[in-house]
This record gives sequence, C-alpha cells and structure tokens, in this order.
Amino acid sequence: MAPIKGSVTVPAVRARKGGKKLVSVTAYDAPTAKLLEEAGVDIILVGDSVGTVLLGYDSTIPVTMEEMLHHLRAVRRGAAKALVVADMPFLSYQSGLEEAVRNAGRFIKEGADAVKLEGGLEMADTVRRLTDLGIPVMGHVGLNPQKLREYGGYRAQGKSAMEAFAIWRGAMALGRAGAFSIVLESVPAELGRMITRDCPIPVISCGAGPDCDGQVLVFNDLVGLTSEPPRFAKAYSKGLEAFRAAIGAFTREVREGSFRPPAGGPEITPEELKELERMARSMPGK
Ligand code: KIV
Repeated sequence: MAPIKGSVTVPAVRARKGGKKLVSVTAYDAPTAKLLEEAGVDIILVGDSVGTVLLGYDSTIPVTMEEMLHHLRAVRRGAAKALVVADMPFLSYQSGLEEAVRNAGRFIKEGADAVKLEGGLEMADTVRRLTDLGIPVMGHVGLNPQKLREYGGYRAQGKSAMEAFAIWRGAMALGRAGAFSIVLESVPAELGRMITRDCPIPVISCGAGPDCDGQVLVFNDLVGLTSEPPRFAKAYSKGLEAFRAAIGAFTREVREGSFRPPAGGPEITPEELKELERMARSMPGK
C-alpha cells in the first residue's frame, strides 16, 4: 500500500525527536481509527491490549497473530493517513529471527506501517534484523505486559537504580539497533526524562511522566470505558456512565412500549393498507 499524500511516515516520526509532541492512541476497529485520524492523532497502535480490552482475555499473553491481523485490517481500512503500528503478540518474535521476520513481514503486507515489540537489550538483534530488511520497529521497554508471569503482576518498573539502569541500557540498545521510536511504560517520571534526554529516537510515554517526546493511551482508558484502568491512564470522558445510561434508557423504553425510532419507519399509503387488509382477510384458513 503506497503512502498517500500527507501521511505520517516513519522518518516524520523520527524527526519529531525533541520537537512537537507525538500523540498515539490504540485502536482495534475501523470507526475508532477514523475518529482518531480525524482528531489528528499521529500514531495509531493496534495494541495486543486488544486481548484484555476487547477479547475478554485476562492478559495479552493468549493473543494470536490471526487475531492481531484481523484487527489490523479493520484499523487500516479506517485510517488512511496516521502511522499504523501493529503490536507483535507473545511468541510471534521471541523464538528466532526468521520467525520474527515472517510475522513482522505479514503485518507489513497486510497494511501496517511498522511493528512494535516488547523487550530491551535481549531484542536488539531482532530489531537490527527487521530494520535491515526495511521493517520499521517501535521498541517497548519498562513494563512489558507480555512478561506478566515473570513479574507476578502488573508492577511499575525501574524503581531501583539497578532496574532503572537495565531499562535505560535497553532503550539505548534499541536506538542503536535501528528502532524508530520507543514506548516507555510504567516507570518513574525521572527515568522517563533521563531516557528521553539520552535516547536519539522519540520516546513515547505510557505512564513514564510528562517529559517524553509523546504520550500513548489505550482508547478505552482515554474515553473512560475501562472499569479498572491503570493508575497512569487519564480518562477524558465518562464513557462507562454514558453507555450505561444509554443502554438503560433503551431497555426502559422497549419494556414500557414507548420506543419509537427517531426518523419514524417506512410508510404505506391508506389505499395500500386497505388492500393488504382485504388480501389478508380473503386468505382461507387464516
Ligand atoms: O498493547 C498496547 O496497547 C500497548 C500500549 C499500552 C503501549 O502496548
């Protein structure tokens, strides 16, 4: 798919380092992608958070390539200009470079502009191989939700100097390996500031403080549709309340018999109605 005029490109994102802040939001379907694009969002992330947000899994670990491809295609149909980044699901890139190339390549063939994968130093060779082949990679360090079992729960990362240094080294290694940007998740704001200062590529904060090169939010958290959002997620509307009220009103109207569609229904002339009655009455055995 050739980029259309005015599209956000990978070099354009790279060039925003230290400049105008990057805005990124997740989307999993075409209408949401269209809405985000109309609002001027730069990067639409088809996150593996689709597993917990939409598919009812209790973590991102069960998400498959087929599920990601299904949602990527929908997002791509809704987003012509934003940079669409597809998240590589657990075990689609960890077990070998060739498997990583095959799966990342599938995303690019199906319309992604870039892929995202989790991990720092341990992923540098994979990032190098993909970028050498022309597959742009967004890194993801700090809290890596696919390592949930190792952490024993979703915990903020980088709170000790040792842990923070490992994250810092990971970010630097990804930058050297050719990643075009990095998501930094759930770390102290001071570490967010330091990595943003030292890393030559845009660092996008997901709970890493306000001083990074941009911010990313999960769409459902942003519009208030998540019942237990992460502490760093900011809701800009009371989505759940609005949805509950709308569904409650519909349910009441239907049960009370007062439901009417706003534009009315299709009409039949009195003559046609009379003829219909005559035909129905004349049916034997009705
Ligand atoms: O899957 C996702 O939505 C993400 C963002 C939280 C960065 O990785």
